[in-house]
Amino acid sequence: MSSLPDRTARSALDPLWRGLRAVRAAITVGFYMVIAPSGYVPFALFCLLWRGEQRQRARILHRVSARGVRIMHWWLRTMRIIHFDWRKVDLGLPAGPCVVVANHPTQLDPTAMMAVLVDGCTIVKPSVYRRLLVRPLLEGAMHFEGPSLDPMSIDHVLHSAVDRLRSGMHLFVFPEGTRSPEGKLHEFGRIAFEIACRANVPIVSVALRCEPCYLSRETPLFRPPARLPRLFMERLAIDDPASCGGDSRVLRERIESRYRQWVADGMPAIVASSAPNAAGSMSPTLRGTGEHLAWTGEPGACYGVGMSKITVNNHGPYRIEGTFSITDAAGKEFGLAGRTVISLCRCGHSANKPFCDGSHARQGWQSSCEARELPPQKPKV
Ligand code: FES
Repeated sequence: MSSLPDRTARSALDPLWRGLRAVRAAITVGFYMVIAPSGYVPFALFCLLWRGEQRQRARILHRVSARGVRIMHWWLRTMRIIHFDWRKVDLGLPAGPCVVVANHPTQLDPTAMMAVLVDGCTIVKPSVYRRLLVRPLLEGAMHFEGPSLDPMSIDHVLHSAVDRLRSGMHLFVFPEGTRSPEGKLHEFGRIAFEIACRANVPIVSVALRCEPCYLSRETPLFRPPARLPRLFMERLAIDDPASCGGDSRVLRERIESRYRQWVADGMPAIVASSAPNAAGSMSPTLRGTGEHLAWTGEPGACYGVGMSKITVNNHGPYRIEGTFSITDAAGKEFGLAGRTVISLCRCGHSANKPFCDGSHARQGWQSSCEARELPPQKPKV
């Protein structure tokens, strides 16, 4: 049995911790309201007076903004409002530009992403992008305006995004378009996936979780939890658009179903693979092979680039995880609808062969297999 303390247990002091956290949050917001407007002015002046290359200006602004949001997260940690430590995050991004997508549980996700990615740009809601003081900074950093009600604006967004990626930046997008409901996901929009396909760059899925929930729509700033909320950022997978034939619909379905599986599993922590250079080694030579990192669907699961793992379950099926295809004897592929985990029947009782349908348990089928060394292969003559 687990010996972990019950973290959901209530204590008589909970209202006190909540109240203190709300007071610290209020002080922080007040402080921000006072200094933020004056903080934007130097940025606006810098952007107006800059006469050099646009990309160079964006790089400078990204570095400065990353430093700013890191200081902000340090403050929030120190004040015990919400804990996010960007130094502990290792997304193992591929070399070169990529699209980073993430679920969106809290209001702080964009700043957390800026703190980690540094040289990254994003799509900004028109209502925010057009704010007088913020716009020069956003434009200077080469962030760009999201689509409006005008259908033609989509083309502009796609064009701007591909342009940024070609200049070597990362692009981060929250494909739900708004904050996720607690413990759930909104439907994913297609734009991030279309951008990755058009630019032919890898797409990195990032899992964000806040424990306990805070700064979500349901748990706003002045209703903090008693226990210190912690925001975690982990890599869920890397996909190559070429592995879906460059079809953004298929790519979106694959990635969204992986997120939904992770959410259905209770948003467990993800343990990154210790394989050499894991995703960071996703060099141009690896792109186009259809290899990706895959969520294996188990708490504490590992990831490996381009790997498939087969587990021989005792008294049960073969469980295959990672990158694989299954074909019939004629070489025709089964459509797996983007599944990255599947169980194949080992007992011979399934009515849905080659897949497991649970008959092994109903039949009381027994077979245990322990891992062992095989004898060396006989030399071929
Ligand atoms: S192993 Fe599950 S039905 Fe055969």
